[in-house]
Amino acid sequence: MSGKAEAAVDKVFVKEMLEAFGREALEAAIDTKWAGKHICYFKELDSTNARAKQEADNGAAEGTLVVTDMQTAGRGRRGRSWNSPAGVNLYFTLILKPVYQPDKAAMVTLVMALAVAEGISLTCGMEAEIKWPNDVVVNGKKVCGILTEMNVEHGQIQCVAVGVGVNVGLQEFPPEIADKAASLEAECGKPVSRAALAANILKAFEKYYESFLQELSLSCIRDKYNRRLVNRDREVRVLDPQGEFQGIARGINEFGELLVERDDGSVTMVFAGEVSVRGIYGYTV
Ligand code: BTN
Repeated sequence: MSGKAEAAVDKVFVKEMLEAFGREALEAAIDTKWAGKHICYFKELDSTNARAKQEADNGAAEGTLVVTDMQTAGRGRRGRSWNSPAGVNLYFTLILKPVYQPDKAAMVTLVMALAVAEGISLTCGMEAEIKWPNDVVVNGKKVCGILTEMNVEHGQIQCVAVGVGVNVGLQEFPPEIADKAASLEAECGKPVSRAALAANILKAFEKYYESFLQELSLSCIRDKYNRRLVNRDREVRVLDPQGEFQGIARGINEFGELLVERDDGSVTMVFAGEVSVRGIYGYTV
């Protein structure tokens, strides 16, 4: 075979390796103690969050990972849907079965946001930032959304389902989000392995979640999170249903609330719930 033909074969081989996605590729890539050690893989699902909650009800252990190649009813935050075509993106939900009180679960989303940002940086070799509380952005555009849901009975958590959707290779976005969404491959200009990305995210999550469990606060990851905060020390508009206001974002506290400094020097602690934050000119800045 000529050198040129060999190079072409190599290229096809590398592309196939990178695109390999499914239970085997994930099992080979994931190197953790418990996060993602047991995998429920599906070619198609309505929503990995919905399925994860069913699996948890049926006895799935903590750390079980529900993954699919496409979703027909992917769920986003605030009742929105999540665009989930086949063959290009990453959609998974990690099942947790904690003993802490339900009011602590919102912090897990921020732990996952940091893990996703680190996983993207490591896998793609580019900077990934966080738009509070849990969008991961690259070059100012959203590449990942996280939706945490839980089942609670008699005040006790039955399961927490941490759902992650990453735009890996998607080329075209619906017009309403085209100016603020992006995919990793478009931003880094090279193919990205979904299995390697999932593995890097889970490795980081496992480490940070174990630290979170020790104090049930985000003090252990606060500095790392704040260093990646896209709006840090920038003017933001807080879209609070009780009344909008502007101020400078100073980072999160140990509970994941965003500290916003107002013109008069006072600092408001913004709790994620119904509130969202925008840059004053657009989605991030
Ligand atoms: C957002 O609106 O930003 C959150 C989007 C979360 C999407 C992911 S995809 C995997 C998991 N399953 C779902 O149905 N939603 C989450």
